[in-house]
Amino acid sequence: MERRPIGVVDSGVGGIAVMREIRQLLPHEDIVYYADSANFPFGGKSVPQLQVVALEAARFLLSRRAKLIVVACNTLSSAALPALRRNFDVPFVGMVPAIKPASASTRTGRVGVIATEATVQAQVFADLVAQFAEGIAVFTRACPHLAETVERGDTDSPEVRRWLHEYIDPMLAQGIDTLVLGCTHYSFLRPAIEEIVGGEVTVIDPSLPVARQVERVLRDGGLAVSAAQAGKVEYFASADRDGLLTKAEALCASGSSLAATART
Ligand code: DGL
Repeated sequence: MERRPIGVVDSGVGGIAVMREIRQLLPHEDIVYYADSANFPFGGKSVPQLQVVALEAARFLLSRRAKLIVVACNTLSSAALPALRRNFDVPFVGMVPAIKPASASTRTGRVGVIATEATVQAQVFADLVAQFAEGIAVFTRACPHLAETVERGDTDSPEVRRWLHEYIDPMLAQGIDTLVLGCTHYSFLRPAIEEIVGGEVTVIDPSLPVARQVERVLRDGGLAVSAAQAGKVEYFASADRDGLLTKAEALCASGSSLAATART
């Protein structure tokens, strides 16, 4: 079939954590990555604002011929997935905080979730807790500073650790054994977070399950590429594209094949 890319959108570099997994799983697919950096951070925006942002982003990715759009952002997905699906025919894969798997796997019945302000305020979030966390104590914390620090390229400074302790220590004191990363930017903080929570707490990062969902949707829709040539990544940003490229390379330097294709 004709080669069309997978579109991936976030406010900045967070979605790169998801794209990294998609690249590992589907190395032959082309990807168009769009950071709406002019609207960063999404986490402080209202639902109507996020819906406008989401529709604009989808229009941009469709103008780049995206065959499927990954909303690699919990904030945007929580506010705008139904609106996106109503407005466009292309399949969307979104992500909402992993309350369901966390509730299914916790042994203590105590789960922590860190996410943006907009995500924890979203109706979808309350619905997920009501639907999947019956009898589970869910401790939620909006973390306004974390996406900003990651966006600055800072994933493990004393400042980041101070914020992480401020946000996570109260949950540890409550006896959580599972911590959900409810914002894609936090994937890049995972090593620091795992050190802080210690080996007894399971950290749930949904990046890989989202990539698997992309694989399923492509396969079921007959949209997967059949050619064996390596896929390429194209980066676009609504502001400071050079900054995005530099950060993408730095964040992906360890291990991923992404770095090599960052400037295609
Ligand atoms: N990466 C986004 C998320 O998953 C949000 C970061 C922001 O506030 O822009 O929620």
